[in-house]
Formats: sequence, C-alpha cells, structure tokens
Amino acid sequence: MLNIILLGPPGAGKGTQAARLQAGRGMVQLSTGDMLREAVAKGTPVGIKAKEIMARGELVSDAIVSALIGERLDASAEQGAIFDGFPRTKHQAAALEILLSQRNRKLDYVIELVVDEDELVRRIVGRFTCANCGAPYHDHFKLPAVPGVCDVCGSTEFKRRPDDNEETVRTRMAEYRAKTAPILPYYEEKGLVRRVDGMASVDDVAAQIDAILDGTA
Ligand code: AP5
Repeated sequence: MLNIILLGPPGAGKGTQAARLQAGRGMVQLSTGDMLREAVAKGTPVGIKAKEIMARGELVSDAIVSALIGERLDASAEQGAIFDGFPRTKHQAAALEILLSQRNRKLDYVIELVVDEDELVRRIVGRFTCANCGAPYHDHFKLPAVPGVCDVCGSTEFKRRPDDNEETVRTRMAEYRAKTAPILPYYEEKGLVRRVDGMASVDDVAAQIDAILDGTA
C-alpha cells in the first residue's frame, strides 16, 4: 500500500494523473480542491467560508483542509492514497505527518510535476467539463466530437471553474510559489522527492510516475 503526494502548480496535471492512478491501481484520490468545490456546491459551513477565497485564487485555511483530509483518510487505508493538492503549506505538511502516523501509515513518495508556467495558463483557461457527467474537455486539446454535445453522456450543458480565468490563475501560481514550493526542501531532506517532466504528454507523465511507483525509474 503506497501513500503518495502529487505536487505541482495549478494545471500541472495533478488531478489528471491522480484519476489515472485511482482507475489503474485502485489507489484513492484525495483532492482537497474537489472536496472544497463539493462543499461550496452543497453550501455547507466550510463551503460558505471557502467560496470567496477560492474565487480569488488564495489558499483556504490550514485547519479546514487538514480536517477535510482527516475525515477521508481512512477510506484509503487498504489501497493507499494519492494526495492531490494537499499539503500546500508547511503547516499542512506537519498535519499530514501526524494524521498518517496516528494510523501507522507513512509517505512513500512526493512526486513533483515540473512544468512551465505560461503553458499552465493555456491549459487551465481552456478547460471545461460536462455539467452532467464531469467528462473533461479543452478548447485547444480536446473538444467534443460533435460540437456542443458531450461525447460520454450526450448532455449539451458544460461548465468552467470560476477560478479558471487568467487573473485568478496568476494569483494561484503566486500562492504556489510563496507557500507550497517551500515545502519541497522538507521532503527532500527525508529523501522522498521524485521529479517528473510534467510538460510531456499525459501518457508519458503517467509512464514516468508508474516507473517510480514500480521501482523501475
Ligand atoms: P485545486 O482544485 O487543487 O486546483 P489547483 O492546484 O489549482 O490545480 P488544478 O486542479 O487547477 O490543476 P491540476 O494540477 O490538478 O491539473 P489538471 O490535471 O486539472 O485547488 C483549487 C483551490 O482550492 C485553490 O486555489 C485553493 O483556494 C483551494 N485549495 C485546494 N486545496 C487546498 C489546500 N490544501 N490548502 C488550501 N487551499 C486549498 O490539468 C489541467 C488541464 O491540463 C486539464 O485540462 C488537463 O486535461 C490538461 N492536462 C493535464 N496534463 C496534461 C499534459 N501532460 N499535457 C497536456 N494537457 C494536460
């Protein structure tokens, strides 16, 4: 059972690769971004607090996201966890260590997706999903085969994340540089960091990650 962190700036491909690992290896994707968007959509107390912060591209409080991860961690006890978008600060990294050790679990790898920021803006600003089934699309890389109709479920409704505009993406990247990138040395000291070329194709990035997890890298 492996527990890994996927680390990288907005649009680096964390969610894409976490979903593939979940489908291919049965590991459990724990995405704090998805958990927060779910809370916002349901209008829970956490969602009400998080909504405006996320729309500005800033980070939600450490206490809120650490509690969300704590609530979901046990669901990955058998298959292992992929932490997607968590931890994002030194406090969150410390909280994760405690949450794992309380369960006699440990981190195996911190996989950094290394990418070019200008490409990330193009990736993020162009993405959209089917409003019904969540199938992902992109203005440049993947349009529906029939314009305006979801390939998977036939829905004609699509949506974009409110934080996927250029100005907010720049704030999200600044938050990454200021608060998240500084946690890398903490994991470097523990010998856990592995780097992959996040600019490669989705399949190639997946192959690089598989090689790390299989011990053949
Ligand atoms: P979150 O949902 O975590 O967003 P993010 O980190 O900004 O990451 P994204 O989901 O935008 O990108 P990704 O790296 O997953 O890339 P993806 O695979 O989608 O967080 C949103 C907000 O929630 C934060 O701003 C914050 O407010 C709050 N939050 C969340 N967690 C928090 C925490 N721990 N603490 C505090 N606040 C927190 O790919 C992007 C696009 O590129 C897609 O279109 C995809 O198809 C495409 N793509 C992916 N890989 C490739 C490739 N190799 N080649 C070409 N295209 C690719």
